[in-house]
Amino acid sequence: MTNITITRTTKPATRPSDDSLAFGTVFTDHMFVMDYVEGKGWHDARIEPYQPFTLDPAASVLHYAQAVFDGLKAFRGKDGTVRLFRPKKHAERLNISCERLCIPQLDPEMILQSFHKLIEVDEAWVPSKPGTALYLRPTVIASEAFLGVRPSKRYIYFLILSPVGPYYAEGMNPVKILATDQYVRAVPGGTGAAKTAANYAASLYGAEVAKKAGYTQVLWLDGVHHKYLDEVGTMNIMVQIGDEVVTPPLNGSILAGVTRDSILTLMREWGLRVSERQVSIDEVMEAAKDGTLKEMWGTGTAAVVSPVGELGYRDQKILINGGKTGALTQKLYDAIVGIQYGLTNDAHGWTERV
Ligand code: COI
Repeated sequence: MTNITITRTTKPATRPSDDSLAFGTVFTDHMFVMDYVEGKGWHDARIEPYQPFTLDPAASVLHYAQAVFDGLKAFRGKDGTVRLFRPKKHAERLNISCERLCIPQLDPEMILQSFHKLIEVDEAWVPSKPGTALYLRPTVIASEAFLGVRPSKRYIYFLILSPVGPYYAEGMNPVKILATDQYVRAVPGGTGAAKTAANYAASLYGAEVAKKAGYTQVLWLDGVHHKYLDEVGTMNIMVQIGDEVVTPPLNGSILAGVTRDSILTLMREWGLRVSERQVSIDEVMEAAKDGTLKEMWGTGTAAVVSPVGELGYRDQKILINGGKTGALTQKLYDAIVGIQYGLTNDAHGWTERV
């Protein structure tokens, strides 16, 4: 196992109260950093005080967005124990994203070590109020000073930690979403399945248009037909029509969400009829008309489960479950959160003690 050098801060910050936490606004005292140079590989793993980087203005990440990241959470249980939720799955996904962006993969054990060691150093920052967590943001950026377009020969892996509250101001209250056939977030053969910075940059304009129209997020439709559900905001989308729960298949354009996978597993175990298949916006609007559209929700690490209460599409607007959180959406949220905080039996071994 690689040696990790630890340099502690001499100026620890004041931790915010659990009540004041929003999403991703405050960061802990330390960060994990590791470098890559072609020919030498990943090296110099270290934990150091949280501080700005020095980057050459020609660093390729600043010009061509060769960057990947992931996002996962650690939770403090009632017993004080801190548990990471599915860290191996997140480490695996970071490497899958690296491959798509021509970034040299990391040793998965090293990624896991970075999660554990950094949380150990900043353990006091893990909040304990229900609904709060410590969000981990592992990231890789291309740091070579070079303006030609080709994969960089130098990279920085870093991990930062942020104590967080709810992602949406609405919390677990239903959000309003707008299906757009004007903007897309991904196309077949593109980078939609990778967690890469540019996907999020590409989503901003459509999201702002939706916000100006009074919606919380965009319901993205596929990039070819502008017809099939893709993702919602930064989350995977699920919809219950009649007795079937449908979510779009992992077709290369959709991120393989860890919460998506956890929820599909639970629903299948509960004996629900679950389909990973294409579902068109017309099918959803029809189901709303004939009364078979039951519930709709987004799934993601940041918000866990986010109920959709209202859906706009062209000149139509529909209320889902009367604009209220549905029973299945609530049950799924409670089940995941119960496992995350160590309140219920973790039959799948999804949590890992820090
Ligand atoms: C998630 O965890 O749902 C996300 O992808 C959101 C993150 C980009 C802030």
